[in-house]
Amino acid sequence: MVGIAEPLRVLVTGAAGQIAYSLLFGIAKGDVFGKDQSLILVLLDITPMMPVLNGVVMELEDCALPILKEVIATDKEAEAFKDLDVAILVGSMPRREGMERKDLLKANVKIFKSQGAALDKYSKKTVKVLVVGNPANTNCLIASKSASSIPKENFTCLTRLDHNRAQSQIAVRLGIPAKDVKNVIIWGNHSSTQFPDVNHAKATVKGKTIGVYEAVQDDSWLKGDFITTVQQRGAAVIKARKLSSAMSAAKAICDHVRDWWFGTHEGEFVSMGVISDGNSYGIPEDLIYSFPVAIKNQSWKIIEGLPIDDFSREKMKLTADELVDERDTALQFISSE
Ligand code: NAI
Repeated sequence: MVGIAEPLRVLVTGAAGQIAYSLLFGIAKGDVFGKDQSLILVLLDITPMMPVLNGVVMELEDCALPILKEVIATDKEAEAFKDLDVAILVGSMPRREGMERKDLLKANVKIFKSQGAALDKYSKKTVKVLVVGNPANTNCLIASKSASSIPKENFTCLTRLDHNRAQSQIAVRLGIPAKDVKNVIIWGNHSSTQFPDVNHAKATVKGKTIGVYEAVQDDSWLKGDFITTVQQRGAAVIKARKLSSAMSAAKAICDHVRDWWFGTHEGEFVSMGVISDGNSYGIPEDLIYSFPVAIKNQSWKIIEGLPIDDFSREKMKLTADELVDERDTALQFISSE
C-alpha cells in the first residue's frame, strides 16, 4: 500500500465536464482517500476543452486545499496515464440527438480501447480503475481487455449511483435516514434493464433492524414502482434539470472509490460493476456486471449464496442478456478496425 507521505496520483478524465466539477472538489478535500493523504490530481480532457479545463485548475488552486500537492491538466494520454494509482474515467462520447445506440457504442469503444492501452503502457500495474462514462459496463470491459498486463479485478464500473438511489427511495418511503437502509443491490447493467433488488436489504425503524419487505409492507410497490423509479431516475433528473445527474454522480463516485480504498463495514455490502467469471449467480463470464460486493484490503469479493427467487432470476438474466449483446457488438467493432 502507498504510504501516507507519498502523494497518490489520481486521474479524472472528462475533467472539464459537469460531473468532474463536483467530483474534483470532493476528492481534493479528502472525501475519498482521507484528509491526510496528499494527492496529485491529473485532469484529462479533449483539446477543444483545454480553456475550460484551465478555469477548473484555477478554481482548484483558489480552494487552497491542504492535501492537494499538484494539479496537472492535459489533453495527452501519455502524460495523463503516467504512473497512476487510481484512474476515474468519466469522459466519454455523449449521445447526440438522432444518434443510434450502435454509433454511440462504436465511438466509445474507440476511446476506451485507447485509454485501456494507455493504462497498460503508462500506469502502475496496481492501478485501480473506475469507469463512469456510458455505456459504463461495456466501456470498462473494453478498457480491461486493452490492458492485458493489469489484473481484471482492477477494473470496475459505477453502479453506486443506482445503489444510492435505491437506498434513498426506501428511506424516503419509510421516513428514515438513508444510512438506516443497508444492503440494497443493483444487479447488471447501468441502464434501464438494471435490477434494483431489496430482497436482502435491511432497514432500521424505531431502533429495530428488519428486512425491507417487512418494513415497507407493500410488495406490489417493491416489485413495481420502486424498481421502475430507480431504473428511470437518470431520465427523470434529465427531464427536470435539462442536464444529467452530476452532483449525485460525483458523490457516488466518491463512495465507490472510498469503499474500494478503505473497505466496507462488517456484514455490509455495496454494488459495483465487476468482472464476472461465470461462477456467480449464473451470470455469463466475461461481462462487467453489477454485483453485491464486500471489500477488504482493497480487494472486492462478490457476496455469494444469497437466495434468488424466480422473479429476481428473470430480471438478473434480462440485464445480463443486454450486456452480452453490448459486448458482442463492441467486440465486432474492435475486430473490424
Ligand atoms: P459532460 O458532457 O458534462 O462531460 C464529459 C466530458 O468528457 C467533456 O468535457 C468532454 O470533452 C470529455 N471527453 C469526451 N471525450 C473524452 C476523451 N476521449 N478523453 C477525455 N475526455 C473526454 O458529461 P458528464 O455529465 O460529466 O457525464 C460524463 C459521463 O458520465 C457521461 O457518459 C454520462 O452518461 C456518464 N454518467 C454515468 C453515470 C453512472 O452512474 N455510471 C451517472 C451519470 C453520468
